Amino acid sequence: MPLHLGVNIDHVATLRQARYRTMLGAHNVEPSILQAALEAEAAGAHSITVHLRADRRHIVDEDVFLLRREIKTLLNLEMGNTPEILDIALRVRPDFVCMVPENRQEVTTEGGLDVVGQKQALQASVAALEANGTRVSMFIDPDLEQVRASREIGASMIELHTGTFANELGEQRRAEALRLKAAAELAHRLGLQVNAGHGLTTRNLPDLFIVPHLVELNIGHSLVARAVFTGLGQAIQEMLAVMRGYPIFDADT
Ligand code: PXP
Repeated sequence: MPLHLGVNIDHVATLRQARYRTMLGAHNVEPSILQAALEAEAAGAHSITVHLRADRRHIVDEDVFLLRREIKTLLNLEMGNTPEILDIALRVRPDFVCMVPENRQEVTTEGGLDVVGQKQALQASVAALEANGTRVSMFIDPDLEQVRASREIGASMIELHTGTFANELGEQRRAEALRLKAAAELAHRLGLQVNAGHGLTTRNLPDLFIVPHLVELNIGHSLVARAVFTGLGQAIQEMLAVMRGYPIFDADT
């Protein structure tokens, strides 16, 4: 199966909020989140990803409901495990939820979720979401204990945090890729779908290709950054062209 691309459009909303945060209903608000999602779909995105943060710094509630109504592909909602956002997720019924750690001061998601340390709280939310028709993923570092805990709490998927991989170079990047490989192998053996994301670019992606069993990559910042110069559709097509180089692993067939 070709590697799927989930396009994270949070930073289209970041640009909108930089000007229109206090006047979202106004006639001149831009750029449009929906237009970004539809252009991403037209360019070949397999899903649309947004993170509804507690502080609503980019995506706001209305965006999530609008995307749920209008997109033709799959909706992936990233969220911290709080009662407020869980309630919204249960009403929106996204195709996927990816549980992420959230901390108000961070610029972007830093580090993976500690599933081992929050098993009970996560298990309850996973059960509620899965019973409501949403498949749930845990955004974790490539740590075998976190992979096992994700399976134990009933998640269907993990998303491996590739931030460290993306920030390193040379031998350090290779060492992190090997950690990601080991985590992907264990997750696959345990029956979890394996996704990955954070910090991925057309330049670093080929170094990730030693990691087997990847189903979907979630990519945002580098696509929106590239889109400034090429438009979003072209940026996505360039990413998909690199993704087509992902090998077929024997165990996948
Ligand atoms: N996956 C998760 C769980 C994330 O939190 C983010 C960042 O919002 C991404 C993927 C995408 O990361 P980037 O914007 O660096 O491509």
